[in-house]
Amino acid sequence: MELEHSTCNHKIHNMSRFLSEGPAGIVIEVGVWKGGSLRYLAGAHPQRVFYGFDTFEGMPETCELDNHHRPGDFGNTSFEEVQRNFADLKNVVLTKGLFPGSDVTGDQPIAMVHCDVDIYVSTLNTFRHLWNRIVPGGRMYCDDAFQATCEGATLALCQFATEIKRIPQFDAGTHAAFCK
Ligand SMILES: C[S@@+](CC[C@H](N)C(=O)[O-])C[C@H]1O[C@@H](n2cnc3c(N)ncnc32)[C@H](O)[C@@H]1O
Repeated sequence: MELEHSTCNHKIHNMSRFLSEGPAGIVIEVGVWKGGSLRYLAGAHPQRVFYGFDTFEGMPETCELDNHHRPGDFGNTSFEEVQRNFADLKNVVLTKGLFPGSDVTGDQPIAMVHCDVDIYVSTLNTFRHLWNRIVPGGRMYCDDAFQATCEGATLALCQFATEIKRIPQFDAGTHAAFCK
């Protein structure tokens, strides 16, 4: 089953390549929407455990740094619909709520994060919350960096880079990731 997704195919394939060779650990996607990118990755890597987080009610509050997205964007789905879309995949745990408050992953080591939340506060909070749990060789991808509609997320990427004193790598030319 292929679902509608907003992440471009080359970024999804780039992450899938990384997961084929990357270290052991769970995979987290923050920003699932209908589940397109998560379903592709979880289907291609059945031996890995995936956690997907979303409000499943669309974008939460935005701020003055967000130039495009508004509360409620991507609200054209529901938790029940997305759960149905994943009914055949046993390696995916979906959780509804505002991340990072909704995090249920405890202290499990993380191989990869796909942060695809589009806005400033959500991106910065996700980075700050998950970075220390990423294992050596793991990666935290940011779908939205330098996208015209995601100025807030781009600023969050730059701010976090300063906080941890690291520059993001750009896989496949355009896909930003902090690498452990
Ligand atoms: C661009 S969509 C995700 C697209 C999806 N990865 C795909 O490829 O189809 C962004 C999603 O982020 C979610 N989101 C933004 N901030 C969030 C937060 N703090 N907690 C949970 N979900 C959030 C929105 O509800 C929206 O569904």
